[in-house]
Parts: sequence; C-alpha cells; structure tokens
Amino acid sequence: MNKTILITGSTDGIGRLTAIKLANKGYTVYVHGRSQEKIRTTINEIKEATGNQNIKGFIADYSDLNSVEKMAEEINEKVAKLDVLINNAGVFNTSKIKNQDGLDIRMVVNYLAQYLLTARLLPLLNKGTDPRVINLSSAAQAPVSIDVLLGKETVSNGETYAQSKLALTMWTFYMAKKEPNISMIAVNPGSLQNTKMVQKAYGTSWSSPDKGATILSELSNIEDAIKISGKYFDNDRGNFGNAHPDSYDDAKIKKLIETTDELIKKLIG
Ligand SMILES: NC(=O)c1ccc[n+]([C@@H]2O[C@H](COP(=O)([O-])OP(=O)(O)OC[C@H]3O[C@@H](n4cnc5c(N)ncnc54)[C@H](OP(=O)(O)O)[C@@H]3O)[C@@H](O)[C@H]2O)c1
Repeated sequence: MNKTILITGSTDGIGRLTAIKLANKGYTVYVHGRSQEKIRTTINEIKEATGNQNIKGFIADYSDLNSVEKMAEEINEKVAKLDVLINNAGVFNTSKIKNQDGLDIRMVVNYLAQYLLTARLLPLLNKGTDPRVINLSSAAQAPVSIDVLLGKETVSNGETYAQSKLALTMWTFYMAKKEPNISMIAVNPGSLQNTKMVQKAYGTSWSSPDKGATILSELSNIEDAIKISGKYFDNDRGNFGNAHPDSYDDAKIKKLIETTDELIKKLIG
C-alpha cells in the first residue's frame, strides 16, 4: 500500500532520518520545517538518496500558532488523505523564551502546535487507511503547571521541556478515546540521541538518532494500528510501558484539554 505520511520537524535529526526510511519504502512523504531553504535541501537529498520522487514539503514556524493554522489550511487544500501523521517537531533550548503571544516557545512548539495541527487534519486522517498519529514524547515528563502553559510562570529549560512532553502525552491518551477510528500513540524515541537539540541541551549523547527513526518507521508500518491506540512506547526499554501517572488522571487531563481549547480559541478562533 502506498501510504501518505506527514512528518513535522523533518528537516533535521530523528524526523529527517525517519523521512528517509519511509521514502525508501516508496511512500508519499511530506516533510515540514520552518526554513524554506532547509525544506528544499531536505526534499532534494531524500529524492536523491531513495530514488522516490513523491517527496513534498510544507512550511510553518511552530512557535507561531497562526503559521501552523495557515499550514493546516494549505495541507487540507493540497492533500487528499493522510495515513500517518508523525508529530515530531520539538525544541529544548531557545534563544528567546516567549513568542509574540507571550507563551513559552517550548510549550507552543512541543505541544500546542501539534495539538492544533492534528485537530485541523482529523478529516484527512479519517480518510486514511489504518490511520495513526505518532506523537514524540520523551523520558522527561513533569506535571503540567497551567501557569507555565499559559505563559504566566517561567521555569527552567528542562522543566518546561518535560512539562510540554507530559502535556503532549496526556493529550495523546485523551485523543485515543475521542477518536476511535484513528490510532493515537505516544513514543519516547530513546534518550540522548545525537541530534542538534540534544547537543544544544546536554552537549553529549548516548546513541545515534537512527534508533528513534527506526522505531518511528516501525510504528508507521505496523498493521492494525488501532490495537495500540492510547499506548506509550518507551524506546529506552524497547517496549510499551507506562507514561507519567498524570497521563492516566482523568481530572488532570480534563483541566489540560479545557485550558488548551480555551487558549487556542482565544488565539486562533
Ligand atoms: N534526540 C533525542 O534524544 C530525543 C529524546 C526524546 C525525545 N526527542 C524528541 O524527538 C523529536 C525530534 O528531536 P531531534 O532530537 O531530532 O531534534 P532536532 O534534530 O533539533 O530536530 C528538531 C526538528 O524540529 C524542527 N523545529 C524546531 N523548532 C521549530 C519551529 N519553531 N518551527 C518549525 N520546526 C521547528 C527543527 O527544524 P530546524 O531544522 O529548522 O531546526 C527540526 O526539523 C523532538 O520532539 C524531541 O523532543 C528527542
């Protein structure tokens, strides 16, 4: 089957390697990035490395929800269906903490942008075959402070990153219940893989990003994905396991989703 796949943040790191693996299978792959130049280069490199010419791209700055909304509109106009959406774009250190809406850029890029894009692409995913959304979580997960989510409180880089990743994981499990025909999976791709993000954050690494790309490729290909909807794959252990306890706390999830919906409504409408 020729799958149609969109991978956010695929101009570098784990996302880029995943795009190459999936292009090698002959699938139609849409890459995403924030730089037109990097998108063009990535598309050309993937075409050359794999011989697959069905590689296209979309641009959006994920620190700006209006940019994400515009990209979602464009995707809905140009793409007929989506079988796999990999929400991979992510950031740990930023030169600037807040975006133009006063929100922490980690919360926007790692959680709110993924939330918004996925909501807008549900009609395309519902037209897909055995559709799935794969969300890039992390071993770093910390209880979400609503004040951090709303940009009212600033905490350390590591703490903000971990909160954004738990928010993404809680939302994944909420979506698994809300969308019974689309598989929603959260994945820790494996800790400290040698990418730009990890080098900037920690200056050291444990493994190659091929480890993360391999699990993302496997989860994109697994049949009957609905059977693993609402699960968390922990690639540090190599199996499905438990995410942070808050991911299973219905009251905390309800509060997170209500706050997120209100925030997005206020900013985007
Ligand atoms: N590496 C690890 O060990 C590890 C561990 C756990 C989880 N993860 C998660 O895995 C995902 C991929 O991370 P990575 O390590 O591969 O990082 P990376 O090499 O830095 O790649 C991140 C990707 O996200 C894009 N991105 C960042 N900020 C953006 C923005 N404002 N707008 C649009 N795109 C943006 C980057 O675009 P540019 O090319 O323009 O920078 C790049 O394509 C992230 O969600 C990360 O949290 C990674």
